[in-house]
Amino acid sequence: MATTLMVGSSANALDRNELGLDVIRVGVIGYGYWGPNIVRNFHGQEQSRVVAVCDKSPKSLQRARNSYPHMQLTSDANELLTSPDIDAIAVVTPVWTHYDLAKAALQNGKHVFVEKPFTTTAAQAEELIELADRKNLKIMVDHTFLFTGAVKRIRDFIDDGTLGKLYYYDSTRVNLGLFQHDVNVIWDLAPHDLSIMDHVINEKPEAVVATGQSHLNGVADIAFLTVYYPNNVIGHINVNWLSPVKVRTTLIGGEKKMLVWNDIEVDEKIKIYDKGVEMKNSEGVYQLLVSYRSGDMWAPRVEQVEALKVEAAYFVDCILNNKTPFNDGVAGLRIVRMLEAADASLNQNGKIIAL
Ligand SMILES: NC(=O)c1ccc[n+]([C@@H]2O[C@H](COP(=O)([O-])OP(=O)(O)OC[C@H]3O[C@@H](n4cnc5c(N)ncnc54)[C@H](O)[C@@H]3O)[C@@H](O)[C@H]2O)c1
Repeated sequence: MATTLMVGSSANALDRNELGLDVIRVGVIGYGYWGPNIVRNFHGQEQSRVVAVCDKSPKSLQRARNSYPHMQLTSDANELLTSPDIDAIAVVTPVWTHYDLAKAALQNGKHVFVEKPFTTTAAQAEELIELADRKNLKIMVDHTFLFTGAVKRIRDFIDDGTLGKLYYYDSTRVNLGLFQHDVNVIWDLAPHDLSIMDHVINEKPEAVVATGQSHLNGVADIAFLTVYYPNNVIGHINVNWLSPVKVRTTLIGGEKKMLVWNDIEVDEKIKIYDKGVEMKNSEGVYQLLVSYRSGDMWAPRVEQVEALKVEAAYFVDCILNNKTPFNDGVAGLRIVRMLEAADASLNQNGKIIAL
């Protein structure tokens, strides 16, 4: 006879698929721009299934109905939050709604997959982390880029010493739109780079400086962030909704090698340059001797996977095997702290804010 696995504090028996494997039943709240990707990826997994989708907007619900005619659809989030047939809730709504929806999901014994940025304040994030811990439930924050082949390779090149001692991370993430009304461009676009820096630099940031300007709807639409790390490592992020072209380029400089990641490039997303600078003080010579190294460039293979597919499988695995995701609530909180500091700096014309 099959044993009954209980997950979290919901203590619901899990469903089984035709192979006899446990299946996590997911309810998705929010079917706007990003929601359809979440539904498709959780629905396409062997060990998860989307059982219901909720959206306040009749238009969004109609789109969901067209794609999934047999799925339970509702405009009332409470139906999903209190359903005994749902093990996990994905919160794919605007940032200001994340806290309330995630809290209600946890209170009802559901695991939570929540969009970036996790919450609008660090205090909210701390409360959700504590609630999930108490109820033995998982929180995963959708820091999608961490699951891309490119970021995995970049992390490896830093961890295995290929780049050598790290100098800087410098990213440009600009395009025309999509203008958000509830958050500024930092909260919209910078979570990607902040989560990547958090993951690959793997050091506690010390301070943040942000400058920016708003031109159209009262929130900053262009901003420049600087994050200071120990050992002179510096991170810089340029985010902009008013760029005529889409640019997704990151430079990572190390003592031994330098890396360029162009995410728009289809084939050779990452290029590693054997370039660098050495300073020597020869005996008897008081002037610095500067020598430049300009060696080969190579483009390592980058796994072409849909990041969300890998991430959805990882969320399910973390629930079924009681693992703590590396992109958990605590990781989400680290990003929210940097975003809060960036706002504080922005509002004081670029004052340096210690973390
Ligand atoms: N990980 C990524 O790469 C990525 C990409 C895009 C967006 N996002 C995140 O996804 C979230 C949603 O962004 P979006 O661009 O899809 O926004 P959107 O405005 O296009 O869609 C949000 C949807 O949520 C619905 N909604 C809002 N409040 C609701 C409620 N209480 N109950 C039910 N439905 C509700 C709205 O009707 C809308 O259809 C944001 O947090 C955003 O930061 C993440």
